[in-house]
Amino acid sequence: MDINKVGVVGCGLMGSGIAQIAAQAGCDVVVREVDQAQCDKGQGKIDKFLGKAVEKGKLSQEDKDAVMGRISFTTELSGFAACDLVVEAIIENLEIKRELFAALDTICPAHTIFATNTSSLAVGDMASATNRGQNFVGLHFFNPVPLMKLVEVVRTLETSADVFDAACAFGEKVGKVVVRAKDSPGFVVNLLLVPYLLDSIRALEAGVATAEDIDAGMKLGCGHPMGPLQLLDFVGLDTTLYIADIMFHEFKEFRYSAPPMLRRLVASGRNGMKSGRGFYDYARK
Ligand code: CAA
Repeated sequence: MDINKVGVVGCGLMGSGIAQIAAQAGCDVVVREVDQAQCDKGQGKIDKFLGKAVEKGKLSQEDKDAVMGRISFTTELSGFAACDLVVEAIIENLEIKRELFAALDTICPAHTIFATNTSSLAVGDMASATNRGQNFVGLHFFNPVPLMKLVEVVRTLETSADVFDAACAFGEKVGKVVVRAKDSPGFVVNLLLVPYLLDSIRALEAGVATAEDIDAGMKLGCGHPMGPLQLLDFVGLDTTLYIADIMFHEFKEFRYSAPPMLRRLVASGRNGMKSGRGFYDYARK
């Protein structure tokens, strides 16, 4: 099961990165967005990232042009009819994802593997909207996708061994280290990362230290590239709250419960870097 033609649904933060690394690995990539304006925006993100790579001397202009030339954009799902793999990277909403996969199931040939980049929903809950449970996996990439070296490949109870192996091989083909996980809430990384991030907010709420000192503690004391509050701003406070609520619902354990401060910040629109303010103020920087 060689994967050469890849479809990516959604060209936001994650989708644009997935499309880019697949094209950099030599795959032909088709990206679907809801309208032309979103297609242009997505293309702009990839162009900007690769442009920076050229500036940094990490990529030649010729290679950049070749990568861009391997990516096409469409607003129609029918554009996925010839894909070996379709990766979904749209909004974290189960019903919307199920509708998408049910529609793709009628368009794509039997051999096409479906993958979701979900970070928090059950992969099996999406697979059950299709008639190809054996051809369905999770491919959970990390932000920023082109720079982070990991992909979690997730198998459901129904995923076939061949499809799982093909998905792992694809992860390696796009230059990632593969971690194999079963379809369990948070897989490996968020199972451990989310309680840690929530605990950093609890520490701030309890007045243990300032945000700056909590972050400095973990950066310099543990060698993390970002402190937890900085990472929360980077991932998005709304996104983290959403994931925490799903995990709390699944496990009913305190360590996944969102601290009141997180809810208050999200309620007031302080969602982190993308909104200009979270634990830190980005407008002033
Ligand atoms: N093209 C090619 N290379 C690039 C590049 C580009 N456009 N932009 C940056 N780079 C390279 C840099 O040259 C540098 O390479 P070297 O190490 O060889 O010098 C490297 O990438 C790092 O870039 P920067 O120096 O610009 O930035 P940084 O050192 O501040 O690192 C970061 C930025 C990679 C984001 C780092 O801060 C980091 O790893 N942060 C943690 C991110 C993280 O944890 N992400 C996961 C979030 S959780 C998630 O995503 C899942 C979920 O479900 C919530």
